[in-house]
Amino acid sequence: MSFLYEKVISKALYSLDPETAHQVGLRGMGLLGACAPLRLLMERSLTPKGGRPIEAFGLKFPNHIGLAAGFDKDGIGWRGAAALGFGHVEVGTVTPKAQPGNEKPRVFATPELNAVVNAYGFPNNGAQALHDRLSKQPGRGQRVCPLGINIGKNKVTANEQAHEDYLVCFKLLAPLADYVVVNISSPNTTGLRALQIAPRS
Ligand SMILES: Cc1cc2nc3c(=O)[nH]c(=O)nc-3n(C[C@H](O)[C@H](O)[C@H](O)COP(=O)(O)O)c2cc1C
Repeated sequence: MSFLYEKVISKALYSLDPETAHQVGLRGMGLLGACAPLRLLMERSLTPKGGRPIEAFGLKFPNHIGLAAGFDKDGIGWRGAAALGFGHVEVGTVTPKAQPGNEKPRVFATPELNAVVNAYGFPNNGAQALHDRLSKQPGRGQRVCPLGINIGKNKVTANEQAHEDYLVCFKLLAPLADYVVVNISSPNTTGLRALQIAPRS
């Protein structure tokens, strides 16, 4: 499988524009997740049997390697990714309202360094769309690995109102998540990181 990935799949993906490659990978995960027989086959054959399970935050992780936020912003491919054997999958970053993100090009690949730099700026279909999609899928305790939901604020929301954006997302999505991540670290939304500094009273 790793030979197939290194010699064929990664070469084909790197030949594409990086955002298109991302979409191809994501749609592939979506198809895998939606095709129950294939998904079950993958879950049983590919999930690393030797992985060391850990418990943290009251959650059981089948292994240490998870899929970070940003690959699956709208919860389209997480079931496919989970079937590949990740120890957890984090969807998002999602914002209260749908937004298009920054102008393209906004993803840049340097294959010789195995590196991808992103300036997406949280393109996503909004918290309600993610809620509706996840509500129809296996919930807490029925998943092959923990599902995290990463929440952010809309670009048009001023920092003074940012807490309202996080609350909207949290109230709607926390009941569906095994854990929630509050994103105040992205460099691609102007001023977001200023939220890390508590205002002086
Ligand atoms: C294309 C791309 C998109 C990303 N989008 C998000 C995002 O929406 N939210 C987020 O919290 N992190 C995002 N990240 C950051 C990743 O979640 C992760 O923290 C980062 O890639 C570092 O982990 P790594 O060293 O394992 O790659 C993104 C990263 C990449 C490469």
